[in-house]
Amino acid sequence: KPLKFVTLVGSLRKDSLNATVARALPQLAPANVEIAPLGSVGDFPLYNADVQEAQGFPEAVLQMASMIAEADGLIIVSPEYNYSVPGVLKNALDWLSRVSPQPLVGKPVMIESASPGVIGGARMQYHLRQILVFFDAKVMNKPEAMIGQAMGKISEGKLTDAATREFLGKQLQAFADFAAH
Ligand code: FNR
Repeated sequence: KPLKFVTLVGSLRKDSLNATVARALPQLAPANVEIAPLGSVGDFPLYNADVQEAQGFPEAVLQMASMIAEADGLIIVSPEYNYSVPGVLKNALDWLSRVSPQPLVGKPVMIESASPGVIGGARMQYHLRQILVFFDAKVMNKPEAMIGQAMGKISEGKLTDAATREFLGKQLQAFADFAAH
């Protein structure tokens, strides 16, 4: 039976480097792995407990929660904003954290980031790991994928850099092994 992973992107930008990386993953995955995109975090309203109490969860939140719950693993691909997690991604995680049963408990999670800078989003990844401690998610430690100087590795909406493609393929293989155990 194939493993099913879902991707969550932390950028709303049309030409997002991170969305481009996420779109490349299905072609880089091992043969027994299927990868599908989740909806956009831009479809979530700003978290407000009053809204949740009065109207319940937005449909987009419930749909994403159930797709994550059904998946064998979650892949988060996100930029770093001011050394941390973009607000739109944190907002989505805040919504998802309130859904019961909580879809990320024990869920295998892999993190990737791309940036024009040399650090490749590393500081965001360590803040994201801290948030995922609350969720009690099962976050893969290594290999880490921080794609620095990503402008030179992406062209016309495609991840073109051969070394990066090869490395992400290896990370996906490691995640498949991690998620299967
Ligand atoms: C950034 N950028 C950025 N890059 C980085 O490596 N570390 C950082 O702390 C930040 N901070 C930051 C804050 C804000 C508000 C913006 C808009 C941008 C640059 C960022 O990596 C770049 O814009 C990427 O292209 C964003 O990712 P997407 O949208 O291309 O996926």
